Amino acid sequence: MSNPVYYEDVSPGHGTLPARAWTAGSDARRLDLSGDWSFRLSPTAEGGDEAFTKDGYDPSGAPGWHTLTVPGHWVLQGHGAPAYTNTRYPFPVDPPRVPNENPTGDHRHEFDLPGDWPEGGEALLRFEGVESCARVWLNGRELGDFQGSRLPHEFAVGELLRPRGNVLVVRVHQWSAGSYLEDQDMWWLPGIFREVTLLHRPEGAVADFWVHAGYDHTDGSGLLRAECGQQARLSVPELGVDIVAGEEVRLPVEPWTAETPRLYDAVLSTAGESVRMRIGFRTVVIEDGVLKANGKRILFRGVNRHEFHPETGRTVDEETMRRDLVLMKQHNINAVRTSHYPPHPAFLDLCDELGLWVIDECDLETHGFTHLDWRNNPVDDDRWTPALLDRARRMVERDKNHPSVIIWSLGNECGSGAGLGEMARWIRERDPSRPLHYENDHDFPDSDLHSRMYPRQSEVEEIGRREGAEKPFVLCEYAHAMGNGPGGLSEYQRLFEKYERCQGGFVWEWTDHGLPQRTEDGREFFAYGGDFGEEVHDGNFVCDGLVFPDRTPSPGLTEYKKVIEPVRITGDGTARTLRVSNLHDFADLSHLALEWSYEVEGEALAGGRLPLPDVPAGESADLELPVPPRTGQSGEAQWTVRAVLADDTAWAPRGHWVAWAQLPAVPPAPAGVPYAGAEVAPRRDGASLALGPALFDAATGALTRLGDVPVEGLRLDVWRAPTDNDEGAPWKPGSGPGPAWRRLGLDRMRHRVDAVEPDDTGVTVRTRAAPAATDLGLRVVYRWTATAELLRLDVSVDPEGEWNCPLPRLGVRFGLPAAYDRVRWFGGGPGEAYPDTRAASLVGHWEETVDGLQTPYVRPQENGARADVRWARLTDGSGAGLRVAAGTAHFWLTARRWTSEHLDAAAHTTDLVPDDTVYVNLDHGQHGIGSASCGPGVLQRHKLMVAPARFGFTFAALTGDGEG
Ligand code: GAL
Repeated sequence: MSNPVYYEDVSPGHGTLPARAWTAGSDARRLDLSGDWSFRLSPTAEGGDEAFTKDGYDPSGAPGWHTLTVPGHWVLQGHGAPAYTNTRYPFPVDPPRVPNENPTGDHRHEFDLPGDWPEGGEALLRFEGVESCARVWLNGRELGDFQGSRLPHEFAVGELLRPRGNVLVVRVHQWSAGSYLEDQDMWWLPGIFREVTLLHRPEGAVADFWVHAGYDHTDGSGLLRAECGQQARLSVPELGVDIVAGEEVRLPVEPWTAETPRLYDAVLSTAGESVRMRIGFRTVVIEDGVLKANGKRILFRGVNRHEFHPETGRTVDEETMRRDLVLMKQHNINAVRTSHYPPHPAFLDLCDELGLWVIDECDLETHGFTHLDWRNNPVDDDRWTPALLDRARRMVERDKNHPSVIIWSLGNECGSGAGLGEMARWIRERDPSRPLHYENDHDFPDSDLHSRMYPRQSEVEEIGRREGAEKPFVLCEYAHAMGNGPGGLSEYQRLFEKYERCQGGFVWEWTDHGLPQRTEDGREFFAYGGDFGEEVHDGNFVCDGLVFPDRTPSPGLTEYKKVIEPVRITGDGTARTLRVSNLHDFADLSHLALEWSYEVEGEALAGGRLPLPDVPAGESADLELPVPPRTGQSGEAQWTVRAVLADDTAWAPRGHWVAWAQLPAVPPAPAGVPYAGAEVAPRRDGASLALGPALFDAATGALTRLGDVPVEGLRLDVWRAPTDNDEGAPWKPGSGPGPAWRRLGLDRMRHRVDAVEPDDTGVTVRTRAAPAATDLGLRVVYRWTATAELLRLDVSVDPEGEWNCPLPRLGVRFGLPAAYDRVRWFGGGPGEAYPDTRAASLVGHWEETVDGLQTPYVRPQENGARADVRWARLTDGSGAGLRVAAGTAHFWLTARRWTSEHLDAAAHTTDLVPDDTVYVNLDHGQHGIGSASCGPGVLQRHKLMVAPARFGFTFAALTGDGEG
């Protein structure tokens, strides 16, 4: 057999230098080569001739050459197209061979050295990230080649440089042997996607360094030592430290934690170079089966973060990185798993600065071999071990100086194999100061943590309860945030707080990876798998984040923030008692202020501050609420108590809500007919029946008018456009109820009217609603009563037959003319909520337009319900419209400009076109959301089981001057 061609070579590359620590703070000269480069795309690896690598080649005017922005992906700059697969390799699996169709980007860049580029020394050409394989030439000389996309690679080039007209040429292949190690669930995006820099290395420059900064919680001292392999000094002026490399000092310091990210400026200097850095003192250990930082158990309130920007893919600018982290901090998130590769190194600086625990994960995933029963899995084949070790080294060496990085992760979803063991052995030996992570069973030797993905709440509980020697348990992924959801977060959090060994988890995932595209008529939408003509793809499974592609928080993020709040406020609003529990791992509550307001019927009538005593982490304080104001107003009353930032922080202004609770003070008035005994009798009026303010079709019993407002098609509705979590995971048939709902035909229910029965006090309409081809059905009786002003509906639903699936929703739907598009309600808000995603729903008065009520999930699906609604008004610009109030129980309110059927049929947001109706759903019940698009489904208590139900509403017409 001949030697493999370099891009099909399982060895990690040729000609690159050993990995070393990142030195962003170096005072050595550096030239960023980002900018406009010449670019030519070939369909195969050998397609373009190699003349372009020669020194004298001139691409200007040569066929096929364009200008490309580097760093960047060519497929996002008009050359070729992105492609999305989850686990499947988009090429035949024949490792390490790749197809002839191997899009290859030739990149060429000319540069001059700045006039003040120093004489002497060495120079390195550094690539922070190239997908998936690069071969490099400088001034006509080949430097070598490398694989390992999300890892740095350096070449020594000093001898080749000239003051002017340097020619850098990089040939990048989309597919290589390395692609088999990079089967992460994301877009395939080839290119030079992180910076290329030229680094001057003066004589006596820092070759590599490692600043060890531990913290001894028993006496509050820091332990500092620099490892440098050459003569060097480390100074930390603020601490009065100036030591030589190898020397260790112990002195009092303030520790670094994710809650208190205390950093000290430091400088490491050798004869030729000074490197500025920020040091954080902290020690991470596993003790008695518990992961501890600085002596204390920590709890991960985490997310998995891919590098993603909607315009530039995995080229992510620093502003976006900071924005991600600021948003995380604002939402009480304290940990990031860098799924599933090391991030841009600047991201870790920001984690140090803002305070997040980081699991730094290696660029490794071979998930596609699962479809072959893991035959030929590279992590279980010696030939690949050098490549695996190379990846481990490049990660650990680059990132070893970050206090935020507390755990190394071998990679993701590679099955198991000896190669992982080799990586683990090397990492443990190189860095015994950090635990190692890999998702697997609890007895898996190559992980110090027991890490699982998507277990049910009950499994977490079972693991939490176990006695004896165990590893700390983390959920490296849970709560699949695809589309509407994830549901069931609160139940997980309770377990994390209850069991010491359950140390939290990382929601999958931070952001939707939608790519902006336009319809033919110019409207923008976010595209997903299949939208670029891919033969093999996994659709919108790439849109499963807590934020939309443009970083607008999705309701799932608001819910997560509430569920993981680091302060828990409980109490009894009637007895005016209040307990504030500090759930931080380290911080006391001195950074917070406690505010209260007292609300009657949703209106805040009084408010103020309560003194917040000093509550150490893990403890609570009991307080007393003030005497409620005498308002003279009757009705439902509640306290809203919130813990807010007392001062501006690096990530949110003073006043930012960190935690809150609402405590009922006076319960809602008992439900019932507000006008018992005052009912009016229906009157026949031609083809209509008049009842109080309403008109009905006398033949069908359909409500047609309320006051001046035309009402259309009011009847029982059980259908919702299935969410991604309703649909379930494609590889786990039956995991979500959506397919069963469709099979049964809940999207095409038929309604038969059996009787319209006017009597002295109202009208009864007896019906049966059922799908075709089954004898299952719902007997539905609508009982209408009225006073002169009010119309009341009482609905009774009695199922017939053996239903073996829950209902999507249960309530009534009706249409109003499009002009009634302003909504005001007293109930949960401001955002959407469902039975298992309602923790963040805040009871109050809210106002929105119908358009504003929609949540624009990248793939349209059920959204926008508001929980616990007491009353709602739908009005036009003049205030005319209708008011609906809860009958027997609070209801779920949804209003949109399209039907659930349209919503269900839409593939992208631009498929949703308003018609001339506002469709209103008033629901007695909604099915929960769960996480079945990848994880467990809806917990039993959040299922909407088919059972007899009674519910009702009171309607009134608004004439334009009436107040809600
Ligand atoms: C996990 C995997 C992630 C992602 C997720 C589903 O199995 O580790 O990369 O694919 O499922 O979105």
